[in-house]
Amino acid sequence: AAFDMVIRNGRIATASDTFHADIGIRGGKIVALAQRLGPGLDEIDAAGRWVLPGGIDAHCHLDQPTGDASVMADDFLTGTRSAACGGTTTVIPFAAQQKGGTLEDAVADYHRRASGKACIDYAFHLIVADATPHTVQKELPDLIRRGYTSFKIYMTYESLKLDDRQILDVLALARSEGAMTMVHAENSDCIAWLTDYLLERGMKAPRYHGTSRPAVAEREATHRAISLAEFLDTPVLIVHVSGAEAADQIRQAQTRGLRVYAETCPQYLFLTAADLDRHGFEGAKCICSPPPRDAGSQQAIWDGLDNGTFQVFSSDHAPFRYEDAQGKKVAGEEADFSRIPNGIPGLETRLPLLFSEGVLKGRIDIHKFVALTSTGPARIYGLYPRKGSISVGADADIVIWDTGLRRTIHNDALHHNVDYTPYEGRRVTAWPAVTLLRGKRVFDNGAFLGQAGDGQFLPCEKPALAQPRPGRAGRSPWLE
Ligand code: URP
Ligand code: ZN
Ligand code: ZN
Ligand code: ZN
Repeated sequence: AAFDMVIRNGRIATASDTFHADIGIRGGKIVALAQRLGPGLDEIDAAGRWVLPGGIDAHCHLDQPTGDASVMADDFLTGTRSAACGGTTTVIPFAAQQKGGTLEDAVADYHRRASGKACIDYAFHLIVADATPHTVQKELPDLIRRGYTSFKIYMTYESLKLDDRQILDVLALARSEGAMTMVHAENSDCIAWLTDYLLERGMKAPRYHGTSRPAVAEREATHRAISLAEFLDTPVLIVHVSGAEAADQIRQAQTRGLRVYAETCPQYLFLTAADLDRHGFEGAKCICSPPPRDAGSQQAIWDGLDNGTFQVFSSDHAPFRYEDAQGKKVAGEEADFSRIPNGIPGLETRLPLLFSEGVLKGRIDIHKFVALTSTGPARIYGLYPRKGSISVGADADIVIWDTGLRRTIHNDALHHNVDYTPYEGRRVTAWPAVTLLRGKRVFDNGAFLGQAGDGQFLPCEKPALAQPRPGRAGRSPWLE
């Protein structure tokens, strides 16, 4: 046979095109796109179904030490298994530096955590939590050259946050080395002040997590992050944007021609503050930062997905269990909101939710779906064109979609190791029928078929989108 695998008669969509063709796969790569290809050792008939590039989840937390007593429920096996079953073939989790530790140690540690376990391909973003001269001037340049070309910095969380001066140091280094800086933008002091205020008055239920992190705190930090990046004339990417306030800052900067990029997540489309007020302590299942807001914010995020404000749609999967094996709340019975770990699971439900509510309800078109969930993240983080498209020479990471389904999300049917999904009981109308990783079935007809250790580490290239704007070099005289 000419091919290891042929996918026949599918309706293929990329970020820009739709076409009917057979896909010929050999050696894990797409080697032919044409009508009526010759035989393959294995064949899939995709007639009448969408055939899309595998999802890239460019923001998820797997097996990440937290700095307090909480423990992440998903390691690289259960996390990537869950991702594959939801149509994702590449994840980009974080290798997080500890304060007082080095990035090199973090990277070595995360490779140990991932290798032999990951079932799909993975790259790493770095988290720069201790911006010492050694880390910024020595470690970052070395690591960027070795394929870690993006890093996240935090403006909030005691154990992670950088001050403005440190943020400038990191942005300047990103500029000179051509790396992408991602920013968690929330004003730390506003949140700490309001948290104390609420707790002193006995307001400790999960819903007050939302109260303690208002949109103005996110808007201010987003504006500041953009300003610091503009000051150094370097690109920046704002992660997990929750609503209109921050999105407007980003949109205005983009309109002024700045290279400001943005990511949003399912929780800002499908949850609101009311979900943090679910009966009993259940609201704890929807605690994440920034918090879900209101219906108007959800609409603003849909608008931003459609109008190009956002380039990346990720899960921000942060897997913490709700109860332990004895049925005790992991955060502590009736723990105050400030002690509940931030983050919700979402690797497996990210694509089905966006396909169902976005594409099939006409809020975004199929090309936007591919751009946001695969091509955009691949380009922005230096994985394109190996990942992120259906084209000759690319890895054969492909998802064949079933649509027109009537399915209800139940945690029992998901493949992660978290004991809940915030989307329990929600209807979806689309789910992957088959997920291929480099030509191999990792999910087919409801069954996980992947193998621990089959996922490969992906060194990332310096993203073209991380370069300062054309013709701008030299406009900041103190830099050149
Ligand atoms: O609440 C969240 N988002 N937790 C995950 C860590 C982060 O800040 O992305
Ligand atoms: Zn964050
Ligand atoms: Zn995150
Ligand atoms: Zn259920």
